[in-house]
Amino acid sequence: VGGEEEEGLSFALAGLKFIHQCRRNLGELKFSSTHAVLIDTVLFKRKLGNIPHEGKDVWLPHFVKMPCSKALSQHGSSQELRWKTIFKRLSALAQKQEVSVSELEEAIMKYNSKYQGRWSFDALRSLIKSDHNSQIYYRRLFPKIAALALRLPQEVKTAVPLLQSGSSLSITLSQTQISVLLANAFLCTFPHRNSSGPNTEYHNYPTINFSSLFADFSLRKREKLRAILHYFAVVTDEKTKPKGLVTFERRCLKNADMPNWKRCNEKMNRLYVMSHGQIEKEGAGLLQVDFASSWIGGGILGSGLVQEEILFLMNPELIVSRLFTEKLADNECLLITGSQQFSLYSGYSDSFQWVGPNDDTLNRDSWDRLNRQILALDALHFREIREQYNNKNIKRELNKAYCGFRGDPGLEEPDVATGKWGCGAFNGDPQLKALIQLMAAAKAGRGLAFFTFDDRRLTTELQQVYSLLVEDSITVGKLYNLLKDFCSNVDKGLYVDLFDFIKRKLRPKQSHL
Ligand code: AR6
Repeated sequence: VGGEEEEGLSFALAGLKFIHQCRRNLGELKFSSTHAVLIDTVLFKRKLGNIPHEGKDVWLPHFVKMPCSKALSQHGSSQELRWKTIFKRLSALAQKQEVSVSELEEAIMKYNSKYQGRWSFDALRSLIKSDHNSQIYYRRLFPKIAALALRLPQEVKTAVPLLQSGSSLSITLSQTQISVLLANAFLCTFPHRNSSGPNTEYHNYPTINFSSLFADFSLRKREKLRAILHYFAVVTDEKTKPKGLVTFERRCLKNADMPNWKRCNEKMNRLYVMSHGQIEKEGAGLLQVDFASSWIGGGILGSGLVQEEILFLMNPELIVSRLFTEKLADNECLLITGSQQFSLYSGYSDSFQWVGPNDDTLNRDSWDRLNRQILALDALHFREIREQYNNKNIKRELNKAYCGFRGDPGLEEPDVATGKWGCGAFNGDPQLKALIQLMAAAKAGRGLAFFTFDDRRLTTELQQVYSLLVEDSITVGKLYNLLKDFCSNVDKGLYVDLFDFIKRKLRPKQSHL
């Protein structure tokens, strides 16, 4: 059966369009009012490397506040003094051969003294105690992370804009710049980012300093730390550190671009449903959907360990999005192009384990980015299952998916790799979510690879319903109206299985019981 499954899988995937098969003329990489490029584009064009752009450092509301910022006018400001302390403490660590967790903790608490007694490092401490073989490896890694963090003023010389709600903006930066920013996050240097109360400056942004990852030991935390520390081991080694670029693009679907769903004439596009396979593995090279939280990365720095967190652990460069991505609104998503997969894993949630290094073999595009596109889409979180059978919520999910699937009109785009989006932690109905994604993909003119994550029943049933929709040339608008009817039935208390409902509507004379 395994062999047949595998054959089926490669057959199905062969019918899809991967990014390396698309003709994509990206044009010149250049700075614009909607695209902040943090490397020197002139040198890039001349193929002289990904050198930091010499820009201006600012301390303004629309930009990331850097720990090393010199933009504050008053000499001797508390911010300037804080960087002095950071510099002194991290330089001391960087000069050592080996650093213990206690030394690391002491340094971090020196410039985060307000949190003395509130932050704990027990998870980090326990990992290192339990991992006898690797104790030296970790103790030697910490000085390298400190040295990496200290390069911030040399590596990021241009103000990093915030990707604020309501704006369609992109940031392109080098993998080196990302590693320097993440080393600062690891060492908790970012100012104004430690408290998240409703009146705080960054209340609408995810957390970025790593303090919460170090506390409350659990087996989950241990595996998460292993993955993160492996990333730092790779990026601090001259021989292995990656040198390409990554783009983070916030997309906002304007009202004028929202489809009138009940009038959409598009028919269903290609769909391949598979019980085997994973979005990030078999779907690499397609547009990979991240089952996201509106706070990008969700519980990555806490104990969360489902699809999004695992994705971020395997591709830690994604974590830097938390530094500048405001909470996603209903009509927004984040597209990340070029992140690298550093690790392999097994299991899921409590059984998750960091398995070891991954050798990323994807090619790079003309902007020196790996051919990996990750689309962060946050579904609605339903406390009550029935809440989802409602026109307003269906439209919200359709627009959210469409915002992400809608490609760049000037570029040939790959098909989409997705699955039970919103159907785990967020309690969505996999049947409804599959149809919503199918409709959004049809409207966007893209095919879907749907990985059901071993749900054989869903695989069979979705294939059956899809065949009926195709046989009857059902349009997106017609299916939207069927979903509306289904919702009215649920309202009246006549709840049946959604796929049964559709089969009965399309084949009224056949018995489906
Ligand atoms: N490939 C294919 N399918 C998968 C994979 C994978 N790699 N991993 C999981 N699934 P969930 P949500 C299936 O719960 O409901 C996070 O904390 C699996 O069947 O991660 O949208 C975020 O930060 C799983 O049950 O997504 C959000 O806060 C289902 O996909 C929140 O969870 C849904 O995965 C999002 O929850």
